[in-house]
Amino acid sequence: MKTLLHVKSSLFGDQGQSAQLAGSFISRWSQENSDSSVIERDLAADPVPHLDAFRMGALNTPQAERSAEQQAVVDLADQLLAEVKSADVIVIGLPMYNFSVPSQLKSWFDHLARAGVTFQYTETGVDGLIEDRPVYLISTRGGVYGDEGSTMQISYVKQLLSFMGLNNQQLVVAEGLAMDDHRDAALEKARAALA
Ligand SMILES: Cc1cc2nc3c(=O)[nH]c(=O)nc-3n(C[C@H](O)[C@H](O)[C@H](O)COP(=O)(O)O)c2cc1C
Repeated sequence: MKTLLHVKSSLFGDQGQSAQLAGSFISRWSQENSDSSVIERDLAADPVPHLDAFRMGALNTPQAERSAEQQAVVDLADQLLAEVKSADVIVIGLPMYNFSVPSQLKSWFDHLARAGVTFQYTETGVDGLIEDRPVYLISTRGGVYGDEGSTMQISYVKQLLSFMGLNNQQLVVAEGLAMDDHRDAALEKARAALA
């Protein structure tokens, strides 16, 4: 049975353009993979707390020495990672907010990037420890920048995914969504790319 993980981070939930584009892709994927399941991780509805000193300390404390509060932090991080590892395909809705990713998505990444768990440094550089699998990035933006263009958003997300071993990245962009003369064509182009 195949599993798809859908990571949502639009403030607008299922009304967000990124969630809607992802939804059309996932419907089609589910039809083509009849014996399959979809895990939804909605980071706006159920935010992962921002990383702070307490949470970082918990993640770096050996299991035998953790308090119950620290263990709860590790349990959440482990659950987020288990969702990633259980997925054959990952779809990440990537709204552009203030030239970057939603802070909710940043928190998710901050709990996934764990030394010795999802990456390690070796004599020859960094090893990503998550087994590679396709990751679809659906980037939605009000303005127009060009696919990878001058956006800090895409280079940040791609670098972080690769750092953890996820190199099979497929980018679909819908931009100019706040511009009347761009919106419809941009959505159509993105839907066609996802199809
Ligand atoms: C808080 C906020 C900040 C935004 N910042 C930007 C921005 O920096 N550049 C841009 O092109 N569009 C920006 N937009 C527009 C969004 O990128 C656009 O509405 C996109 O559809 C968001 O994806 P979503 O509909 O899935 O939430 C912003 C929207 C919001 C709500």
